[in-house]
Amino acid sequence: MSKSNGKLNVAAVADLHVKEDASVSYKDLFAEVSSVADVLVIAGDLTDRGKPYEAELLAADLKHCLIPVAAVLGNHDYESGHAGEVMRILSEAGAHILDGQNVEIEGIGFVGAKGFAGGFGRHMLSSFGEPAIKAMVAESVDEAMRLENALRKVRTDRAVVVLHYAPIADTVQGEPPEIYPFLGSSRLSETIDRFKVTAVFHGHAHNGTYKGTTPAGTPVFNVAAHIEKPTGRPYAVIEV
Ligand SMILES: [Fe+2]
Ligand SMILES: [Fe+2]
Repeated sequence: MSKSNGKLNVAAVADLHVKEDASVSYKDLFAEVSSVADVLVIAGDLTDRGKPYEAELLAADLKHCLIPVAAVLGNHDYESGHAGEVMRILSEAGAHILDGQNVEIEGIGFVGAKGFAGGFGRHMLSSFGEPAIKAMVAESVDEAMRLENALRKVRTDRAVVVLHYAPIADTVQGEPPEIYPFLGSSRLSETIDRFKVTAVFHGHAHNGTYKGTTPAGTPVFNVAAHIEKPTGRPYAVIEV
């Protein structure tokens, strides 16, 4: 339900890494989130190894989430070659799994794509040399274009972008600088900045920094579960 000011509380978390040994349960966390927010965003690495059984465990926990869920997959969800199956299981559990799509929830457009690596600013990897390097850059460009296509379809005043990879370097700070290029790509923020976006959520950089902004000033939140947040909980709550 939207508040009297027409805004929604969006809870966001990433990098749940649900394991098949069921060592961690998110039931209580999802129940808690349902009492403090209107929508839950999960920004990738839903499972630890991308195994369908891990997705089934998460799907069971999601029964305790009483608010709509918008999520993207992360790199870990691709590890076992069953990303389609993981997506199907979580979609059947009621989550909106966004892979270059958008969904409107309570008047807000949630736009999701996994994103990809490639580096930041003028140090981004360029399409030069061996075919393997060119393929990597092509993947990065392709993910940015999937995000762009989804952003173009938004018909609401407010849009929230959900990624797994970081769109800016500021929110990966805290990680070793040597791995920054594997944590995200400025191609994502260049795309975001061509549209009116209210907030961006991502994960992947477990040791990164909670908050930053795109070059045009859109707020970006790294909501990896391990990062300290103003809520003092694994999830952030942002009014959108
Ligand atoms: Fe992760
Ligand atoms: Fe990741």
